[in-house]
Amino acid sequence: MDLENPISGLSPHKVRRPWWFFHLFGLLLFMAIFSIIILGRSFRVKTPEFFVNSMFLSSNYPEIKGSWNVSLCMKNPNPDTYISYNLAQVWLFYKETFISTAHVMPFYQGSGDGEILTVHANIGMKTDEIEEDFTEDRVLIFDLLMEANIRVNSQSFLQRKRFLIVECNDLRIEFPLNQTIGTLSGGQNSCRVQLYGRKPVCF
Ligand SMILES: *[C@@H]1O[C@H](CO)[C@@H](O)[C@H](O)[C@H]1NC(C)=O
Ligand SMILES: *[C@@H]1O[C@H](CO)[C@@H](O)[C@H](O)[C@H]1NC(C)=O
Repeated sequence: MDLENPISGLSPHKVRRPWWFFHLFGLLLFMAIFSIIILGRSFRVKTPEFFVNSMFLSSNYPEIKGSWNVSLCMKNPNPDTYISYNLAQVWLFYKETFISTAHVMPFYQGSGDGEILTVHANIGMKTDEIEEDFTEDRVLIFDLLMEANIRVNSQSFLQRKRFLIVECNDLRIEFPLNQTIGTLSGGQNSCRVQLYGRKPVCF
């Protein structure tokens, strides 16, 4: 047994890399980081837009009782992207008093406009809350609030998660005489939309 050199025959030559290897490696690393920054910048999430398209509220004067529904027209200004909506919920308020809420099933939104989201729920308002406004001009003004978890570009590894809050204020619902249904008066109402990185604590 060769005690002087027990691993003789096993010692390989140290692999010598050419002088340019580390330069090339550094260049590739630099290019990778640079393109990640460029991609990240080119993929800023633009806020989706919402309009109240129509709104109906059933009334049996002297009570507002039955159901309401609202259809929201949505626009996704991010080109070639899908937005998925999850855990979406809508609240209806009358003079800062909570009236009714509805959960919305998860849904997708393509880029561009033209998509309509319809939400409906039940309602029961006490007469004394509304009597004064109702008898005056048969117009009640509501506020609508929607929040949702959204994922922009949800099929891609570049997906972005955001928390969305939509506020549609001063929705004038007019109740024509002798009709049991009140409708939105005054055309399209645009909503205020805000995006957050995650759900705000104070909300
Ligand atoms: C909303 O309510 C109105 C009045 O009740 C009804 O005519 C309409 O079909 C409803 N829309 C939806 C999508 O439920
Ligand atoms: C409204 O309803 C009342 C009582 O039901 C009726 O006498 C009246 O003719 C109705 N008016 C109209 C415009 O339909």
